[in-house]
Amino acid sequence: MQGFAGKVCVVTGAGSGIGQALAIELARAGAQLAISDVDTEGLAQTEQRLKALGVQLKVDRLNVTEREAFLAYADEVKEHFGKVNQIYNNAGIAFSGDVEVTPFKDIERVMDVDFWGVVNGTKAFLPHLIASGDGHVVNISSLFGLLSMPGQAAYNAAKFAVRGFTEALNQEMAINKHPVKVTTVHPGGIKTAIARNATVAEGIDQAAAADFFDRKLASTTAEEAARVILEGVSKNRARVLIGNDARALDLLVRITGSRYQKLFSSVLPRFRPKGV
Ligand SMILES: NC(=O)c1ccc[n+]([C@@H]2O[C@H](COP(=O)([O-])OP(=O)(O)OC[C@H]3O[C@@H](n4cnc5c(N)ncnc54)[C@H](O)[C@@H]3O)[C@@H](O)[C@H]2O)c1
Repeated sequence: MQGFAGKVCVVTGAGSGIGQALAIELARAGAQLAISDVDTEGLAQTEQRLKALGVQLKVDRLNVTEREAFLAYADEVKEHFGKVNQIYNNAGIAFSGDVEVTPFKDIERVMDVDFWGVVNGTKAFLPHLIASGDGHVVNISSLFGLLSMPGQAAYNAAKFAVRGFTEALNQEMAINKHPVKVTTVHPGGIKTAIARNATVAEGIDQAAAADFFDRKLASTTAEEAARVILEGVSKNRARVLIGNDARALDLLVRITGSRYQKLFSSVLPRFRPKGV
């Protein structure tokens, strides 16, 4: 992968899945890395794999919802490497449950991690990215930031918000002539631990839901997702879709407009296993 050699790249949620694969792919491309996660065990595994590649590395436990810690962390990364070029706001969680039965606290938790975590990371690093003269913000939304699904209102809200926030930022950087590119990423189903780590509303069988996701919905590997993201970043794409599922459903929504909701609500229940 071209264009990453010598760049200082920050990856949140790097202890698993897409974040881990991104860190490894960036290291292979010659980047220097600051990786973080709340899961210190997963993070240690990523660290081990990166050390084998001989990369310059900073490893920290960071909860992306803790704004003050994130701001301090951004300064530490700048101090450590002397500059920061790219942030991948990747850390995220999933939750399933209909609005009717979902407590406020579950919606707030998803917004805290999946939306505010991205805002915290973007704002903490933006001054450093601008100062680098060659910056890039990469925010991980989802296919569910392009269309809504029954049972995914909290996640949909957070991922639509990431998209809105990031697309506005992209235009602001251009208008203000800042040397920062901006990419919003919309993965379809990726083979990671996300569904196994997810929480669910009362009445949903978590294990069955995770199993359904792993067997039927996750079609792209994390490694392939990381390669698609880095290709999009190297080409300064504003929007990156990952997987045939993301491309097909994005097209369907653009063709049908708001009518996709009627289509989904009549068709989807037939494919959903009981209790999921
Ligand atoms: N897997 C998919 O199908 C899919 C699809 C679309 C979007 N995404 C998005 O991709 C991103 C990565 O997810 P993944 O699939 O690799 O899942 P994953 O569960 O394998 O990895 C997510 C990582 O984020 C970390 N994390 C969770 N909360 C955190 C917090 N508060 N602070 C710091 N780290 C935290 C977890 O510990 C974990 O290591 C997420 O934003 C997710 O919403 C995933």
